[in-house]
Amino acid sequence: MKVNGIHYETIWLKPGDNSVVQVIDQRYLPFKFIIADLITAEDVFLSIKNMQVRGAPLIGATAAMGLYLALLECKENDNPDTILDEKALYLLSSRPTAINLAHAVNKVFQNVKMVKELDDKIKVARETALDIINQEKDSSLNIGRYGLPLIERLSVANKGKPVNILTHCNAGWLACIDYGTATAPIYMAHDSGIDIHVWVDETRPRNQGSKLTAWELQQHGVPCTIITDNAGGHLMQHGLVDMVMVGCDRLSLNGDAANKIGTYLKALAADDNNIPFYVAVPSSSIDWSISDGLTEIPIEERDENEIRFIQGIRNGQLEELLIADTSSKITNYAFDVTPARLIAGLITEKGICKPEKNSILELFPEKTQMT
Ligand code: MRU
Repeated sequence: MKVNGIHYETIWLKPGDNSVVQVIDQRYLPFKFIIADLITAEDVFLSIKNMQVRGAPLIGATAAMGLYLALLECKENDNPDTILDEKALYLLSSRPTAINLAHAVNKVFQNVKMVKELDDKIKVARETALDIINQEKDSSLNIGRYGLPLIERLSVANKGKPVNILTHCNAGWLACIDYGTATAPIYMAHDSGIDIHVWVDETRPRNQGSKLTAWELQQHGVPCTIITDNAGGHLMQHGLVDMVMVGCDRLSLNGDAANKIGTYLKALAADDNNIPFYVAVPSSSIDWSISDGLTEIPIEERDENEIRFIQGIRNGQLEELLIADTSSKITNYAFDVTPARLIAGLITEKGICKPEKNSILELFPEKTQMT
């Protein structure tokens, strides 16, 4: 997607220097556009943990590059397989909820184990990580293609009046490699001339909605309005939302979807108002090994200071402002799970399906042996 007219993806190898991975430092958006260099596996671990990069597909792609950098760091007397074992576990521990992390690390790990020489391992790690990046890009594009007709139908039903789509958090290109998951159908609808408008939940505590989603939609010219996290239900009751579309960090085989905290409440409000609630989910975010999202998906708990302080900009400087008594007790759950019964459909790179095991496996029969 474009930033000030220039095309960017969210992760790439530095032109002319394959030993450096470059990412957009999302902690400074929308105020500053900063590109960060990642040179070691530790840089990658910290970039994921501290949310310099975030969003399930991008977390996976960055971790894959982390194993490549770990191999580049190998010294003459190091055993690359031992380093690989250690660094794979290390990177896996950076964040718990998005399954893309495990899928990507395991893929690089397995491919690298198949070759012997360090130079070959480095080459295979780099190529696998680049493959993961390309696959995520293709998945987003295809999610866009399959999701577009849903918006087209709403536009026809609205007789050309704007289609209002509500989204939560950032499942845009910043969370992926390009196009996004939940935003891919939105960008395609806008590009094909459909009149759309997006309600963007601000998404406390880190404000991925107001800081990231609104910014990237505006960069592309998609009309959008930021709302508080609690406003969606009211808008739905007053006929101001035609569809809810969100991303997903981990989907269980029964169709339960873990996504940013607050998603479940939007699904409940959508259900109460007969508004379709769609989850855009690439197969890289499906956990083929678990059948009950509510009990089996690990929910990340993050630092209490994300709630105690709010971050903004004053006179060009990023600042944090205390917004609660320092002695108040705080709990910071980062994700919740929306049960399958509240989801109208899953938009995947292979098509749209019902949130249930058989329908999911009909689209991905090759995964049956992993279930
Ligand atoms: O905690 P984050 O910012 O990494 O949140 C994850 C997400 O970006 C969202 O939950 C998103 O909607 C799913 S990832 C495309």
